[in-house]
Amino acid sequence: MKIRENRVLIATTNLGKLEEFKNILETPECTFVGLDEYPQVKFPAEGQSYFENARIKARTAARQTGLVSVADDSGLEVLALGGRPGPLSARYGGPGLSDFERSAYLLSELETLGAVSRLARFVCVAALAIPDGPSFTEKGTCRGVLLQEASGTRGFGYDPLFVPEGYERSFAELSKNEKNQISHRGIALRAISAHLRKESFLS
Ligand code: IMP
Repeated sequence: MKIRENRVLIATTNLGKLEEFKNILETPECTFVGLDEYPQVKFPAEGQSYFENARIKARTAARQTGLVSVADDSGLEVLALGGRPGPLSARYGGPGLSDFERSAYLLSELETLGAVSRLARFVCVAALAIPDGPSFTEKGTCRGVLLQEASGTRGFGYDPLFVPEGYERSFAELSKNEKNQISHRGIALRAISAHLRKESFLS
């Protein structure tokens, strides 16, 4: 199937993610646009699975705009919390919290539990949807440990709490490139990029 335009819609309202998508995907043949140009797109409520959520976001955007669309669903899984918050990471602790408040809530939970293990991993499932065509999903994970308190000012979400395996700085202390090289989103989106580059999807 040939797509008429090489415009690719990045279907996320999270500005932290949007910047990472643009940096990681960087496919010269494509022009990446955000949802700010397509404010009419309406997404259904999210479910409990990364795969289902990522696919629904990308397919919804592709159907409503006619553009090739990419999206992701991601989360932080903490071993001592049995994998929580997982796909519910964005809403953990309740609606309306800032990233900082959400991180503080997570730390207070670990403290209340007296958790010894600080092991955690980030998970990202990225999806690519071709209008009236196939969809692709790819998963990336990044293992690490959680700090006792937030450290660093870059990134978004739980970045200031998370030190990836083999590093001594948190995601929020790494440069954008350093994070994208090893992150769950970097891994998943580079695999999506390979699908995107396939001649058949570009005019
Ligand atoms: P969703 O995929 O929009 O449901 O939201 C994923 C949530 O997981 C984000 O709002 C963050 O709280 C968290 N998250 C996912 N990826 C990252 C990351 O790379 N850094 C920090 N937090 C992340």
